[in-house]
Amino acid sequence: KQVRLSLRPPSFEPEVPWEFPRERLFVRLKIGEGTFGEVWRAKADGILGRPGRVAVAVKMLKVHYTPEERQSLIKELEIMKLLQPHPNVIQLLGCCTQSEPMCVIMEYAVNGNLQELLRRQRSAYNINDLSQDSPESNKQRNINLQLNDLKRFGLHVASGMEYIASRELLHRDLAARNVLVDENMVCKVGDFGSARDVIQMRQYESKTQRRLPIRWMAPESLVQCVYSQQSDIWSYGVLLWEVITLGSSPYPGMGGPDVINFIQKGCRMSKPTHCSDALYAIMKDCWNQFPPKRPSFSILRHRMIAILDEPG
Ligand code: ADE
Repeated sequence: KQVRLSLRPPSFEPEVPWEFPRERLFVRLKIGEGTFGEVWRAKADGILGRPGRVAVAVKMLKVHYTPEERQSLIKELEIMKLLQPHPNVIQLLGCCTQSEPMCVIMEYAVNGNLQELLRRQRSAYNINDLSQDSPESNKQRNINLQLNDLKRFGLHVASGMEYIASRELLHRDLAARNVLVDENMVCKVGDFGSARDVIQMRQYESKTQRRLPIRWMAPESLVQCVYSQQSDIWSYGVLLWEVITLGSSPYPGMGGPDVINFIQKGCRMSKPTHCSDALYAIMKDCWNQFPPKRPSFSILRHRMIAILDEPG
């Protein structure tokens, strides 16, 4: 662990004054629940040198929080401080830690999380499919456009994760629900709330009754609690599957223990409808049983670029 830390390049701007005066933060509306906290939409007046009141997302602890939950939020903040602004990573803008409730202030992504966005798209798809009026050519064009958008989402996440991996960080909970989408339909990796320490994570799981993200976890994480950049890559493969199925739950129809057996046997999810062979090959490579054989995020980014304009 010590070695890992010393390998990490120094934080980009150690002088950034992250602390933000609470009286300039106007919390408006609860927009979601993160791994352990609540996320609120807010306005921040003159944050990080931005003029006027800007929309921000604020993560706070729930009213009755445990010491572990508080520690997790502090950890999430510390991780976010290590990240430079990157177009595909949710940016930290500030924090209020000198008084309660502790707040982590981050950039606001107006289109919310990718899983919900995909599920909203799904009903749009159904309308298209059911429409008797639209000519066949139109339907086809619609779907092609959508497919390329979906592949672009995969590319955005690969770029964000390539950067996170370059900072020697593990996300450990990469899934469509933890990716946010901005006003330009650009995906940004968010929710750094998962504990980085495996033992601590286990304790935290049992105390908060939160279920492990089994369906996104690599076999070595499920069986030996081993987490690495390669286990983040496994999760990325599952995220690609979520994207191409417009936000389906992985391993549909299977219970948690079935999923673990299925994976351990070497079985993998089959190729979804509308998924090209090339995209499925990428997923399957992420799901290699042997972690070192999985591609890196840089390779994945290049492969996503390569399939962007392929037909199908
Ligand atoms: N939900 C969780 N985090 C968010 C963010 N940064 N922007 C918008 N919605 C969110």
